[in-house]
Amino acid sequence: MRIARTPDDLRLQLAALPRPRVLVPTMGALHDGHLALVHRARKAAGPDGTVAVSIFVNPIQFDRPGDLAAYPKPLEDDLAKCQAAGVDLVFAPEAGAMYFPDRSVTVTESLLSKHLCGATRPGHFDGVCTVVLKLFNLFQADAAVFGEKDVQQLAILRRMVRDLDVPVEIIGHPTVREPDGLAMSSRNVRLTPEHRADAPRIRRALEGARSLLQFGERSAAPFLAAARKHLEDSPFLRIDYLELVDAETLQPVGPIKRPAVLATAVFYGDVRLIDHVTLLP
Ligand code: PAF
Repeated sequence: MRIARTPDDLRLQLAALPRPRVLVPTMGALHDGHLALVHRARKAAGPDGTVAVSIFVNPIQFDRPGDLAAYPKPLEDDLAKCQAAGVDLVFAPEAGAMYFPDRSVTVTESLLSKHLCGATRPGHFDGVCTVVLKLFNLFQADAAVFGEKDVQQLAILRRMVRDLDVPVEIIGHPTVREPDGLAMSSRNVRLTPEHRADAPRIRRALEGARSLLQFGERSAAPFLAAARKHLEDSPFLRIDYLELVDAETLQPVGPIKRPAVLATAVFYGDVRLIDHVTLLP
């Protein structure tokens, strides 16, 4: 497995590797969810193509300095996992190698990022779009794989690629969960044992609300109320947001007439977790 630490080194190493080239952008602290993305990338690249992983804790997408400082960075572990998963090339730059101190260009998506995480994490998606476009340019990738857990991120990146004619195919991969239903996240390791034991309620709250569909419910309020009640029964968590949005536009919906997404972000202490379910009318 090749490892590049700077953009120049990356370009050199890529020149020796065959296409198709499929990228899995990550911030490291790799878990089985990331490895599922790597396997999906291998499927897309084929046995003779190139699977590349970027490991970069992108400072410009963090809205809370504490979250950035606490973000786990087990690089040696991550490299071993990539090697075992059959990755061909890892790009693991320092922030200084990615951003000029006087950088002044940012990619902004201005519609899909209005609600959900975009509303409570100002500037977050500007940071995500900017780094992902840089990675696409650096790798000249044919395709890139992202987890569907980050439903808003995935929709925004698809929109960016569409609106800016970026020649990269975006592949979404279903959320990977722990056996108790908690969505895998690099932040899960920062939960206290009590918070970890409570956290599967996030999924249960969303699934419980979704089950109202079976009883013919279609207006937004009962779904939101059911999920909120279940979340608020926890003595530990604080809701950052709970919203019901259209699955395509990510704008709040009244009655559910088209596929919709019930999404939440919650805090356990300073650890922020997200999850969502899709509601089909
Ligand atoms: O989903 C993530 O881990 C990050 O937002 C991404 C896409 C790697 C950009 O930093």
